[in-house]
Amino acid sequence: MSDFKNKIVLTGIKPTGRLHLGNYVGAMVPTLELGGKALDDGGTLVMFIADYHAINAMKDPVALKEAIKNLACAYLASGLDANRAIFYRQSDVPEITELTTILMAYTPKGFMNKAHAYKAQVDKNVAKGEPADAGINMGLYTYPVLMAADILGYGTDVVPVGKDQVQHVEMAQDIAGFINYHFQKEVLKVPEYYLKPNAAVLPGLDGRKMSKSYDNVIPLFGTPDEVKKAVMGIKTDSQAIDAPKNPDEILLFQILQGVGRPATVQEVKEGLEKGGMGYGTIKKMLLAELEEVLPSREKYLDYQNHFSDVEDLLRQGAEKARKLARPVLERVKDAVFGRG
Ligand code: ADP
Ligand code: TRP
Repeated sequence: MSDFKNKIVLTGIKPTGRLHLGNYVGAMVPTLELGGKALDDGGTLVMFIADYHAINAMKDPVALKEAIKNLACAYLASGLDANRAIFYRQSDVPEITELTTILMAYTPKGFMNKAHAYKAQVDKNVAKGEPADAGINMGLYTYPVLMAADILGYGTDVVPVGKDQVQHVEMAQDIAGFINYHFQKEVLKVPEYYLKPNAAVLPGLDGRKMSKSYDNVIPLFGTPDEVKKAVMGIKTDSQAIDAPKNPDEILLFQILQGVGRPATVQEVKEGLEKGGMGYGTIKKMLLAELEEVLPSREKYLDYQNHFSDVEDLLRQGAEKARKLARPVLERVKDAVFGRG
């Protein structure tokens, strides 16, 4: 069965900083696999860099520009086919921001209070004894309306998401519902979400979740020296080499398992269970494995060094996106302003 035949499949990615192995296995690989499947099934894949969503938190334009560049080059180097997919920057499609303004008028304010990104920030403030809305801007508060416009603006059928984004797609469904109910016809298509299989959380060098905020990462497109230094820095224990070990309790194994090919993972598993395979050996195997399985750093640098070409690709993507969004926006404006 073709899940995505003739469907518009849409996903947005927020630029956040230098990419690491956790981002790759937890976000990029699942997104690329699903996107590839959507295209192979004969669907339309709409994929964009959510730079408007990013500015709610990122106020340094230099860092933001860098994050956007890294993200675009990383996805392309990892195999995203920008000729088959519609790949663009959110801020290059004004139809979506125009639609956002209209959706605002049909979205009850109280409805925004339940959005979890906003609620989490309020809870944090309250726990610290600060005013509930400290540090919260309207962009964060109305985040789900822009996201609804992202989705509804193309007549999207399916939105692949991780668990944390399900609520946002449900809010997009509700907002489409408010408008359709008001006009008693299908002005906006009501999308579905597609829950991506739960990607494993990759631990970092210190055993906590790999995260840029913990400074415990293996960089995705680091120099060979950076990658080597990171891998050599993975925390190990002082058990004797010969002691049989439970692989599930060995951090080095957990990281290898997250990225390695099954045969390599199996070999190390057996080596640990039997005893006799040292952590130094496993670190070398992990390094060799990363060489094999990760997208090419050369390709990535090539995109970085020819970023104006990448920007052209993104602009072409935005043109395609605007063509798709324009009739939807016109339909909504016809309804709202009694035109047509
Ligand atoms: P970070 O924790 O480094 O700040 P982000 O919050 O920017 O990472 O995450 C971007 C994407 O990468 C999200 O989809 C997130 O789920 C995924 N991700 C981040 N860290 C990991 C990890 N250690 N394992 C799996 N997925 C991860
Ligand atoms: N909010 C999403 C995230 O933080 C990114 C995003 C923006 C998105 N617009 C979207 C995802 C539309 C799917 C559909 O990951």
